[in-house]
Amino acid sequence: MTGLFLTLEGGDGSGKSTQSALLTEWLTARGETVVHAREPGGTELGLELREIILHRRGYMAPRAEALLYAADRAHNIATVVRPALERGEVVIQDRYLDSSVAYQGAGRVLSTTEVRDLSLWATEGLLPHLTILLDLDPSVGRERLDASRTRYDRLEAEAAVFHERVRDAYLELAAAEPERFLVLDATRPVDELQRSIRDRVSALLDTLTA
Ligand code: TYD
Repeated sequence: MTGLFLTLEGGDGSGKSTQSALLTEWLTARGETVVHAREPGGTELGLELREIILHRRGYMAPRAEALLYAADRAHNIATVVRPALERGEVVIQDRYLDSSVAYQGAGRVLSTTEVRDLSLWATEGLLPHLTILLDLDPSVGRERLDASRTRYDRLEAEAAVFHERVRDAYLELAAAEPERFLVLDATRPVDELQRSIRDRVSALLDTLTA
C-alpha cells in the first residue's frame, strides 16, 4: 500500500472538519489526490447505519452500538479507504478507531482493549500513518456546539462526565502511541493549528517519498 492515511480525532466541537478542509486544500495544491472520508456515514451503507446509531430512539446496548460503529468502519475501509490507498492517494478521515476506543470503550465503559481489537478485526488491522488529536475541554466543545445547533445526537446528548472520560481516553491513547499521534490544543487559532498540522504532514510525506 503506497498512499497516506491521516485521521482526525477529538471531542464534538473541537474543529476537526475545519482542519480537515484546510488540510485538503493545501495537499491538493501540492498536487496530491485527496480523498475525504468520515465515520460514521462515509458510505451509502454507512449513512443508513449512522441514522440508526445517532438518531434511533430508545435504549441501545453498548455492545450493539460498538458493533454498529465497527460495521460502518469495516465497510468504509474496504470500499473507500483501502482502494484509495492502493491508488497511492491521501485519505483524510474524520474519526476512526480511536473514536470507538474513547466513546464506546471509555465512554460506555466497555473494555478498551476489546473495542480496539474489534476495530482491528473489522479493518484487517489498518492503522493510520498519523492521527491528529484536537484536544479540548468538553465544556468548551459544548459551548461551541450550543452556538451552532439546537438538536443533539445520542452521543452528543450524553452527560458531561461521559465526555470527560472520552477526552481522558484520547489523551491516554496519544501517550501510548506518541509516534502516531500529533496532539494539539484546539483552543489555539485555526491558522496556527493548521500550520502545525501541515508541518507534520509535510515531514511525513518527505519520509514516505525518500
Ligand atoms: P461525527 O460525525 O463526527 O459528528 P458530527 O458530524 O455530528 O459532528 O460523529 C458522530 C458521533 O459519533 C460523535 O458524537 C462521536 C461518535 N462516535 C463514536 O461514538 N464512536 C465511533 O467509533 C465514531 C466514529 C464516532
